[in-house]
Amino acid sequence: MIITKSKKLPENFLWGASTSAYQVEGANLTHGKGPSVQDVKTVPEGTSELDVCADFYHHYKEDIALMAEMGFKTFRFSVAWTRILPKGFGEINQEGIDFYSDVIDECLKYNIEPLVTMFHFDLPYEIEKKGGWSRRESVDEFVNFAKILFENYGDRVKYWLTINEQNMLTLVGDVIGTCNLSGVTNKYKKLYQENHHMLLAQAKVMKLCHDMVPGAKIGPAPNISLVYPASCKPKDILAAQNFNAIRNWLYLDMAVWGRYNNLVWKFLEEHDALPDIEEGDMDIMAQGHPDFIGFNYYSTATVEWNEANAEASSGDQQGGSCEPGVYKNFSNPNLLHTEFGWEIDPDGFRATVREMYSRYHLPMLVTENGLGAYDKLTEDGKIHDDYRIEYLRRHIEQIKLAVSEGVDMMGYCPWSAIDLISTHEGIVKRYGFIYVNRDEFDLKDMARYRKDSFYWYKKVIATNGEDLG
Ligand code: BG6
Repeated sequence: MIITKSKKLPENFLWGASTSAYQVEGANLTHGKGPSVQDVKTVPEGTSELDVCADFYHHYKEDIALMAEMGFKTFRFSVAWTRILPKGFGEINQEGIDFYSDVIDECLKYNIEPLVTMFHFDLPYEIEKKGGWSRRESVDEFVNFAKILFENYGDRVKYWLTINEQNMLTLVGDVIGTCNLSGVTNKYKKLYQENHHMLLAQAKVMKLCHDMVPGAKIGPAPNISLVYPASCKPKDILAAQNFNAIRNWLYLDMAVWGRYNNLVWKFLEEHDALPDIEEGDMDIMAQGHPDFIGFNYYSTATVEWNEANAEASSGDQQGGSCEPGVYKNFSNPNLLHTEFGWEIDPDGFRATVREMYSRYHLPMLVTENGLGAYDKLTEDGKIHDDYRIEYLRRHIEQIKLAVSEGVDMMGYCPWSAIDLISTHEGIVKRYGFIYVNRDEFDLKDMARYRKDSFYWYKKVIATNGEDLG
């Protein structure tokens, strides 16, 4: 639809940006923090270890002041489970509790709403050693961790996110460094059992949040990309429906409605991979109600029909995967790509939010969206990232159009507030509004610089999205 009568964004629209603990904090094994799976993984060749990152742990005051200067209404950050509970269970690390308490207070000092992700790819290593999410006990371990967060921060944090990109943990955990499939005979059985436990944990935590923190709002944060069919061939449509179910709707159907998506159920049955479900599990699922849907969006996916005898392969967060008899990745010729080969699709952003809203009718909060690029610091201390401005502008335009069409959008938190370490492509793949002066292996002085996108975003926020120029 071409919109000529557009609506303004709501006055209380939550403008901000996001980070995650293991990618930004540094101090990864100090100040009482225990190891997570991210701290023990072998980092991809040519990329930095995760011990310093952007050193947010020591720079948070300066960084939050810069966010305040941009006019942030919210800041999405994650809590490292092992900074609170070094083993993931048992003894609490008071220094970790105090650190996030200080971060929250620092946000509130500037009227920035803390938006807290409980779990962003950093499962405690002690839990992983015992079998991680594949054990039933992991559900209670996560609930216990959440309870500690609500007890300590519930008086000040009104917005919570449960699990970041649970769908990517299930689909591409090997790329993110969270899953080890060596010696596993049926990977689907393992992955979807883990997924079942995460879904249960999430449902319990959403209920707990409502019980313990009256007035708080909580939601999931999957990575949602509408899946296009490669053509109007009927079989390509079926393939797109298959991948939409596997990639997207499984996670949101369960979070919102508390039931398994029927196409995914059939897919798992075909692979002898139905999760073990205990009595009462589906009641628990039905009791967890999100107040909103948080979601990460980078681009759409496109697939075509795939014959049963094709070879299987997995991709990364942006697709590339292939399931025999189900779908096969298709490179969309209509889209541009980032320097790192990710497709760019602002129209698909609107298509994705339209589809989500028509399925779930809940308010939606963009928890990630952004462009990774090789930014360059000039000799006079500038970063001319006009390509990022262009990417963000075109996506915000689509949010405004979606709002005009009646979609309920709560806010926009692009990735990332500040440069940090990418999941598998190092610090040189930069996303931030704030430049951190370090290279892959040379830590330099870690000084912060305002990129051109910093000043642009400041103006966008000040005009509540009216001036995108
Ligand atoms: C999302 C994650 O998958 O995308 C982030 O939630 C991640 O943790 C972001 O950094 C961008 O991906 P990448 O691989 O470029 O870091």
